[in-house]
Amino acid sequence: MVKVAVVTGGGQGIGEGIVKQLASDGFTVAVADLNKDNATKVAEEVGNESKGYYVDISNHDDMFKLVDDVVRDFGQLDVFVNNAGIAQIAAIVDAKPEEITKIFNINVNGTIYGIQAAAKQFKKQGKGGKIINACSIAGHQAVELLGIYSATKFAVRGITQAAAKELAKDKITVNAYCPGIVLTPMWDQIDAAMAKIYDRPLGETKQEYIDGIALGRGEEPADVANLVSFLADEKSNYITGQSILVDGGINYV
Ligand SMILES: NC(=O)c1ccc[n+]([C@@H]2O[C@H](COP(=O)([O-])OP(=O)(O)OC[C@H]3O[C@@H](n4cnc5c(N)ncnc54)[C@H](O)[C@@H]3O)[C@@H](O)[C@H]2O)c1
Repeated sequence: MVKVAVVTGGGQGIGEGIVKQLASDGFTVAVADLNKDNATKVAEEVGNESKGYYVDISNHDDMFKLVDDVVRDFGQLDVFVNNAGIAQIAAIVDAKPEEITKIFNINVNGTIYGIQAAAKQFKKQGKGGKIINACSIAGHQAVELLGIYSATKFAVRGITQAAAKELAKDKITVNAYCPGIVLTPMWDQIDAAMAKIYDRPLGETKQEYIDGIALGRGEEPADVANLVSFLADEKSNYITGQSILVDGGINYV
C-alpha cells in the first residue's frame, strides 16, 4: 500500500528537497505551505498523486484541518514532517516583542500543533507513525544574532524528546533533523541581514560559515532529505527522541 507523508513548508528550500526524496521513496506527499501555488507546483512535479495544500502552521485549527483533509484525500497518514520555520536576525537586546512572539508562534507552537494533529490521527489508525521535526545546528549551539531563532530550535529539541517519551506506547516515533548551512532562500535572508549589520559585502557571511564546514561545501536540501528519508523509513524504527545533526561537520555533540 502507498504510504502518505505530510511535509510542511514543502513549497521551497529544504522542504522541497524532502518532498522530492520522499516521493522517490514511494510516498504520496501532501505538500503544505503558506504559499499554496509553490506547494502545488512542487506536488505536481513529483507525481505519485501528491497534492498541494495551504497551511499556516502557527494556526492550531489549520494544522488539524490539514491532517483531516489529507486523510479525506488519501485515506491515511504515515509520516508527518514539521519542516516549516522562519529565521530572524537580531541581537537579543534589540529583539522586538512582536517579532519574538511571531517566531515562537511559528517555530515552536507550529511544531507542537503538528505533533498534536499527527498523533491524534496516528492513534486513531492504531499502528504507530513517524513525526519528524526541523531543528538546527542552532538547536545545539546558540549563534549570535540568531539568539531568538536558536531559542526556538532548543525548544524543538526539548519538545522532540518529551513527545517521543509520551508517544512511544502508541508506536509513534518523534525525531528531528538538525541541518547546518543549507543553501536555501532562508540563508540568503540571513546573509543579507548580516551584511547590513556588519557593513560587509553580500555573500561574505555565508562564505565565512561555509569555510568552517569540515566537509568543505555548503549543504544542499538533498543532504537533509537523505536523513529524513531514513527517519521516515522503518529502518529507523528503534530511534526516537533524537535531534540528529546533518551539517557536514560543524557541531560535534
Ligand atoms: N536553511 C538552513 O540553513 C537551515 C538550517 C537549519 C535548520 N533549518 C530549518 O529548516 C526548515 C526549512 O528551512 P528552509 O531553509 O527551507 O527555509 P525557507 O525559508 O527557504 O522555506 C521555508 C518554507 O516554509 C514556508 N513557511 C514559512 N512560514 C510558514 C507558516 N507559518 N506556515 C506554513 N508554511 C510556512 C515558506 O512559505 C517556505 O516555503 C526551517 O524550520 C528552518 O528553521 C534551515
